[in-house]
Amino acid sequence: MKRAVLALPGNAAFAELLAEHLEAAVIPTEFRAFPDQETYVRVDADCTDRVVFLVATLDRPDPKVLPIVFAAAAARSRGARAVVLVAPYLAYMRQDIAFLPGEAITAQVFPQIIGSAVDGLVTMDPHLHRIATLEDVYPVPAVNTHAAPAIAAWVHERVNDPVFVGPDVESTQWVSAVAREIAAPYMALEKVRRGDRDVEVSIPDLAAHRDRTPVIVDDIISTAHTMVHTVRHLRTLGTPAPVCVGVHGVFADDAERALRQAGAAQIVTTNTIAHPTNAIDVSAILAAGCDEVLERVACCTPDRAAT
Ligand code: R5P
Repeated sequence: MKRAVLALPGNAAFAELLAEHLEAAVIPTEFRAFPDQETYVRVDADCTDRVVFLVATLDRPDPKVLPIVFAAAAARSRGARAVVLVAPYLAYMRQDIAFLPGEAITAQVFPQIIGSAVDGLVTMDPHLHRIATLEDVYPVPAVNTHAAPAIAAWVHERVNDPVFVGPDVESTQWVSAVAREIAAPYMALEKVRRGDRDVEVSIPDLAAHRDRTPVIVDDIISTAHTMVHTVRHLRTLGTPAPVCVGVHGVFADDAERALRQAGAAQIVTTNTIAHPTNAIDVSAILAAGCDEVLERVACCTPDRAAT
């Protein structure tokens, strides 16, 4: 089936990379705001029988959601057989439980909104903690790709004798996958979060790895408090200055500066969210995820496509 890529505002660079891997065209699309701040969208290309991959990374997500819904509808109006959202960073995965009565469990609500607009989802290392798989909450086929091979290759080329450190229990999934790729040791710490900007991380036991360079790996760097606390512990222990790797560099407020001040030797992220720290290109991995999702989107499988 023919494919096309549609970039939501701010996603042109990643969409170009993805389109190259998929050997697809980026379709011209106009987005603008009416004077009253409602959104205008026009897809300026015939999409007949194509699968249209909408590229929209979802950091600072709220203003990005309606344009996705409108772009999906516009692509269908131009004949798209299916519309798949490629969200290199997927938002609203962390509030996966109500800690207090009355809290919205946004990790359940948000997928319903997205799932009502698109036929499939491709993303990278979403924050799966108490939710086992994306398809437990997304009502459409959803492919979870992994940055681990790309991160491992980057570290392997640039850091001698690394020891990987995950700052909390959830990070075990990311840190162990990266460490496994290059047969390096790893450990995961324990974190207590008392508020958005109030976290405590346990002290790592690096007795067996004193001469190795710590590489902290986490899925998200948001306020960077998690990484800052981990870096401070490592500096107190007298290890070489750590390298900080985030799959998704959200960098709220002055997070990057705080992390540098804490003593990070280097801060590196993948290009799921455009940021000066991007050093690891994961577009090829997401493109493979696009191929994979098409095997599961009903209207794209051979039987349905023929009808
Ligand atoms: C949540 O547990 C995630 O894995 C990250 O550790 C968290 O989102 C990082 O947030 P922050 O940078 O605000 O500490």
